[in-house]
Amino acid sequence: MKILAIETSCDETALALLEASGGLRAPQFNILKSVIASQIPIHRPFGGVVPNLAKREHLKNLPVVLEKVFSNLKLKNSDIDLKLKIKNLKLDAVCVTVGPGLEPALWTGIEFAKELYQQLKTQNKKLKLIGTNHLGGHLYSFLLSKKLTTKNYTLKTLFPAIALIVSGGHTILLKVDSLTKWKKLGETRDDAVGEAFDKVAKMLGLPYPGGPEIQKLGAKGNPHAIEFPRPMLHDKNYDFSYSGLKTSVLYYLRDKNYQRQSAKDQRKSVLAANVAASFQEAALDVLVKKTVRAAKEYKARSILLSGGVAANKELRHKLSVVSHELGAQFFAPPMDFNTDNAVMIAVAGYISILRKKNRRITAQGNMGI
Ligand code: KG4
Ligand code: ZN
Repeated sequence: MKILAIETSCDETALALLEASGGLRAPQFNILKSVIASQIPIHRPFGGVVPNLAKREHLKNLPVVLEKVFSNLKLKNSDIDLKLKIKNLKLDAVCVTVGPGLEPALWTGIEFAKELYQQLKTQNKKLKLIGTNHLGGHLYSFLLSKKLTTKNYTLKTLFPAIALIVSGGHTILLKVDSLTKWKKLGETRDDAVGEAFDKVAKMLGLPYPGGPEIQKLGAKGNPHAIEFPRPMLHDKNYDFSYSGLKTSVLYYLRDKNYQRQSAKDQRKSVLAANVAASFQEAALDVLVKKTVRAAKEYKARSILLSGGVAANKELRHKLSVVSHELGAQFFAPPMDFNTDNAVMIAVAGYISILRKKNRRITAQGNMGI
């Protein structure tokens, strides 16, 4: 099945073209093309994503990214124009993120997908337009893991699994029984963990997005230098809270009379490195310990990590170590598919098609998983 997927829920304009096969028992994906136009430089001066700027950039980027997806695709006649190339491909589905996310941003992708669908539909009556859940995209992105594509894994042996979805907008723990059945165990009650990384980075004077910057600076610091709080670590539930941790960092920096300087100078500061390392340690400690507790309680056979924060090397390392200790398998997407991308939207779209489940093709900013 050939799928074209579109993702515009936040600040990445992403399109991907995939071949999917294998059904629900052994889904396999052949990525033909994945293009991401990042808006990071546009939003950076504001220290976070500005919804209307995101919308404007998506509108500008979408046609350019579509051209790029098809530009060096090897078709029989290489000089044929874009429209013909797309038609010749005989797509089975156009999948587009409908939520959750910033509504003005989501709408740009949805309108673009609808228009493309209408144009292609006239010649390709079986073409489907599939509304896709962004969080589903993150959750299913473990299916892109090299372990699953190179070894002979049967998906059945992975469940029950505990899935941790950690991004700029979400921190969610799920018990997953199959590709089509899961239960939410807990989520953040305030800030998402990625948001906390971004805000702490801003306090330190580091650029947006803060996650990779904190990781880089933290690698030079001592993770045990400062004992920041681990909110909700000992609560019996599986919820999280990150706003208290963020405020502790703020007070700590205020007490130390910390002055924001240029990012270059911050990177040289021992205090900044220790704050970054100790904040990261506290933030990840809660994620890892609660995931382990859930994995033990539900006798998980695997742990699935996803979302932008899954790009964090320390988090991947810690979860891989504890998985090993628990005798569970650990899966995380390859490095290119942690932060927002359209490949994961195609993967989630494929699963929706197999489940014969479609969503309303309208922007649903607060859609849950
Ligand atoms: O999934 P994503 O691209 O967008 C949302 O759906 O929110 O996640 C973006 C988040 C940002 O908060 C970013 O700072 C964080 O992922 N992030 C990281 C790292 N790379 C990206 N956080 C910690 N460590 C990283 N290496
Ligand atoms: Zn995301």
